Amino acid sequence: MERIVLEGGVPLKGVIQISGAKNAVLPIIAASLLADGDFTIYDTPWLADVENMCEILASLGVQTEFCDGTLHINTKNLNGVEPTQESVRKMRASFLTMGPLLTRFGKVKMCLPGGCAIGARPIDLHLKGFEALGAQITIGEGHITAEADHLIGSKIYLDFPSVGATENIMMAAVLAEGNTNIENAAAEPEIVDLANFLNAMGAKIKGAGTKIIRIQGVNSLQAITHTVIPDRVEAGSFLVAAAATGGDLLLLNVIEQHLQSIIAKLKEAGIAVEEEYDGLRIRSDGGRLQPLDIKTLPYPGFATDMQPQFMALMTRAKGTSVVAETVFENRFMHVAELQKMGADIRIEGNVARIQGIESLTGADVTATDLRAGAALVIAGLMAKGCTRINEVYHIDRGYEKFCAKLEKVGARIKRIG
Ligand code: UD1
Repeated sequence: MERIVLEGGVPLKGVIQISGAKNAVLPIIAASLLADGDFTIYDTPWLADVENMCEILASLGVQTEFCDGTLHINTKNLNGVEPTQESVRKMRASFLTMGPLLTRFGKVKMCLPGGCAIGARPIDLHLKGFEALGAQITIGEGHITAEADHLIGSKIYLDFPSVGATENIMMAAVLAEGNTNIENAAAEPEIVDLANFLNAMGAKIKGAGTKIIRIQGVNSLQAITHTVIPDRVEAGSFLVAAAATGGDLLLLNVIEQHLQSIIAKLKEAGIAVEEEYDGLRIRSDGGRLQPLDIKTLPYPGFATDMQPQFMALMTRAKGTSVVAETVFENRFMHVAELQKMGADIRIEGNVARIQGIESLTGADVTATDLRAGAALVIAGLMAKGCTRINEVYHIDRGYEKFCAKLEKVGARIKRIG
C-alpha cells in the first residue's frame, strides 16, 4: 500500500497549473451516453475516479482513450443498460450514468453506488426526479431499476439543492418529451459546465447556475468537443497549502469567480490573494493567521469540499475558529487524524471548535477520504518533523499528480511503497 511521507516547514514557492475539474468531467463523461459518436474532452484530469468512470462506460460497450489531458470517447458500440457492479460500487458518481441511460434506452439497472464514507448520502432525490418524469423505480437485492416507455417533462422541486440529483435529472430531462423545471436546483459551476456541454450537443437548457433550471426536451443529441472548467477545489487546496506554509504561489488555469468564498475566508484570515493577468497569486508571510468562522453551504456558499483543508489551516490560528458542517453529516473524520498531530479540536454535533496552537507535530496518520487526505498533506506541510500518510489512494481519486505538483514548488514530499 502506497504512503506519502513529507517533512514540514518549507514555504511553497512557484507556479502550479490547475487541472480540469473532477466534479465537472465525471457528469460530462456520463452525459456522453446521450448520443452516438466521437467526443473529445480537453483538460480531462487523469484521476482514479475518471478511470473508474471510463471502466463503467467500457462495461456498456463504449470505447475511451486518454492521451495528454484529452479524453476521447466513442459511444457508437454502446450496447448495455447495466453498468458493471465492481466499478459502480467504487464511486458515488457512477450513479450519474442512470439519467442518460434511462432517457435514451427506457431502462437502466444499477447496484447501489459507493464513494467516500462522508455520511449516508442517499439517492432519494435522484429517484424522485426520475419518478416525476414518469419512470418506474424498483429497488431490491442491492439493485435499482428504473424503467419508462418514454419520459415526460415535469416540475421537480428538490428538497435540498443536491449537485448529483440536479445533474442526473437534467441529463434525463434533455431527451424527455416537453418541458422540465428543476426548482431549488444546485448552482455549482460544474452544473453550468454540464449544461454548456449538453447545450453544445443540441439540448435546450436555460438557467443553469441559478435556482431554477428550465429544460425543453429534444429528440436527439450529437457528439461534440468540449474543454472542462478548472478544478476550484484543487486550486483552493493549493491556496490553503500556500497560506499554511508562508508561501508565494501563482496558480494558472483558475476561474477566480468560482473561488470567491475561499478567497474571502483567506483574506479574513490575513492572507493576500490577488488576480493577476495569467492567474491567481497568493502570498503569505508564514505568521499565525486570524481565526475563522466557517459554515459549509451549497454554492455560492463555502464548499464542504474545502472544509477539511481549512480546518488544517486553522489549527495554527491565533485564537478559536468555529467550523459548522451543514452539507454532510459525517465529515469530521480528519479531526482524529489532526489531533494525532497535536491539533486542539473539539466536536459538538456538526460543529468543530479549533483552538489554534503554535505548531503541529509530524505523525503517522490515515487519509479517511479524499479531502481529508488533502487536509493531512497540508497539516504535514505546516508541521514540525516528518508526517506519514496512509491510504493515499483516496487522494488519487481527486487530485492529479498532487505530490509531484507540490514537490515542484518546494515541498519535501514523496510517495513510497
Ligand atoms: C457532489 C460532489 C462532491 C461534493 C458534493 C457537495 C461530484 C462528483 N461530487 O457530490 O465532491 O462534496 O457534491 O458539494 O460532483 N442528498 C440526499 N439525497 C439525495 C442526494 C443527496 O439526501 O438524493 C444529500 C447528501 O446525503 C448530502 C447532501 O445532500 O448530505 C449533498 O449531496 P450532493 O449535493 O448530492 O452531493 P454529491 O452529488 O454526491
